[in-house]
Amino acid sequence: MKKFINAFDYASDICNSMGKGILLTTKVEGQVNTMTIGWGMVGIEWGKPIFIALVRESRHTKSLLDTNGEFTVNIPYGELDNRILGFCGTKSGRDIDKIKELGLTLVEPESISVPGIRELPLTLECKVLYRQEQDLSQIPENILQRYYPQDVDGSHPGSNRDYHIAYYGEILNAYLITDLISAPLSFLRGAVLFYIYISGFI
Ligand SMILES: Cc1cc2nc3c(=O)[nH]c(=O)nc-3n(C[C@H](O)[C@H](O)[C@H](O)COP(=O)(O)O)c2cc1C
Repeated sequence: MKKFINAFDYASDICNSMGKGILLTTKVEGQVNTMTIGWGMVGIEWGKPIFIALVRESRHTKSLLDTNGEFTVNIPYGELDNRILGFCGTKSGRDIDKIKELGLTLVEPESISVPGIRELPLTLECKVLYRQEQDLSQIPENILQRYYPQDVDGSHPGSNRDYHIAYYGEILNAYLITDLISAPLSFLRGAVLFYIYISGFI
């Protein structure tokens, strides 16, 4: 089940979670991949609600986003297995199926092709509206040196030679996946129906 929300009502949850990391999930040709992101923004442009993700050029996610410009943003809400963010932030979907390795539960989306993830229930469904490569001439020298020192190449998850691309995703839906909360209720409802059935009422 999903509880639909206004993404801006949860802006502080989204931004505060980025300190530890949230997930950005993509899907191409039936294959779902997810990666940890720590940088992003929620806001408004062209009168539309937007989530901006900053993805380095070397990420597998970058090529997936360029093929299918739909993504979900998956934010922890409540308890989270701490392994998830570390794993998805150090392993590449080029080499392994992170969803399968972690046993994550995919949840059918509302209006895009990319699923949500039940274990990170605060979900934004986004469609890329615009992508912007960085204008290096406008980045202050101290930031260039800190974030792009050019000593780790693009084949490594901690690569720093390549720059970020800003993907502006229009937020089409925002919701909390409430399956875990509602599961006991569904079970109870099933048990009541079963009891009525065997009692001969239906
Ligand atoms: C806490 C944390 C935050 C991260 N934030 C970003 C980010 O905002 N942008 C980015 O390109 N990579 C970020 N990374 C690195 C990617 O998650 C990592 O390179 C990942 O393996 C890429 O997966 P992929 O190759 O399947 O796309 C972060 C990693 C961690 C651990």
